[in-house]
Amino acid sequence: MILITGGTGTAGREISKALERMGVRYRSLVRNRAKAAGSASPNVDLVEADLSRPETLEAALDGVEKALLLTALSPEAAQQERNFIRAAKRAGVRYVVKFSAYGASLQAPFFFGRQHGEGERELEDSGLPFTMLRPNGFFQNLLGNAGSIQARSALHAPAGVMKFSAVDVRDIAAVAAHVLTEPGHEWQRYTITGPEALSHAEIAERFSQVLGRTIRFVDVPEEAARQWMLGVGMEAWQVDKVLDLYRYYKSGAAAEVTSNVECVGRKAPIAFQQFVRDHAAVFGGAS
Ligand SMILES: NC(=O)c1ccc[n+]([C@@H]2O[C@H](COP(=O)([O-])OP(=O)(O)OC[C@H]3O[C@@H](n4cnc5c(N)ncnc54)[C@H](OP(=O)(O)O)[C@@H]3O)[C@@H](O)[C@H]2O)c1
Repeated sequence: MILITGGTGTAGREISKALERMGVRYRSLVRNRAKAAGSASPNVDLVEADLSRPETLEAALDGVEKALLLTALSPEAAQQERNFIRAAKRAGVRYVVKFSAYGASLQAPFFFGRQHGEGERELEDSGLPFTMLRPNGFFQNLLGNAGSIQARSALHAPAGVMKFSAVDVRDIAAVAAHVLTEPGHEWQRYTITGPEALSHAEIAERFSQVLGRTIRFVDVPEEAARQWMLGVGMEAWQVDKVLDLYRYYKSGAAAEVTSNVECVGRKAPIAFQQFVRDHAAVFGGAS
């Protein structure tokens, strides 16, 4: 039996769909079964548990051979991963796929990278066969900018001229689904990127091409970005860490392009223009 965590979130929903397309029966660990049941497919067994409450994990992991560990952005994520990996080991799980992040390491110059570095280290030290999935930033993060793209034809970010190789979560899901269902991926670390590295000015140009009107990139100072993020309800700790991430991007370190979507996910990576086309209604476009 395959178990996934985080299946109700942005990446997890796509991973669930990819497993369902393959006809795979799997178990999904959810915090609230009633909430998750509405969107669940007949191929999924829902099990209620909480990564912050280790005592709930034993029953969820009973009979599980392979697991995908995906945690939310949270100050507790490293502890939650520790809880899960230890419980998986005790339950006799034979393989854990960790949803990590581009650049993850204990020495990463940004918080989320170090946090995933801690989770990776815990998994490595557990002795369990593993695969690390290290996606770059999601195209889908830009759905959070849809309001100003739609209303003011502007893309605001404290991004400067940096390029980064963001990726569509549907492509990450394809990689995850193959890794979970095929042999031969043990001990691998897959950096997962989109097909090209783009600056925010280039992202704005591609929005313009697809939406049929000019979208401006506005490079905002960090302080203005902080106020905007707080204004839309993000928590202060998270705002700090996201600004930290932009500083990492600005260093140019997140521009590597890999072929793991083709080689492991067995599909052509989704171009940024296609992502915009698929969400044109949200961004206020013509197509
Ligand atoms: N966004 C990016 O650009 C990016 C790039 C690389 C890596 N990542 C990594 O991707 C992960 C976030 O993925 P996402 O954006 O898909 O997450 P998300 O949409 O925020 O979803 C988080 C999932 O975790 C579940 N969850 C939260 N707390 C839980 C708990 N205590 N116990 C069990 N389940 C819990 C949520 O379930 P409920 O339905 O119960 O809330 C939900 O299914 C993070 O590890 C992040 O570092 C993100």
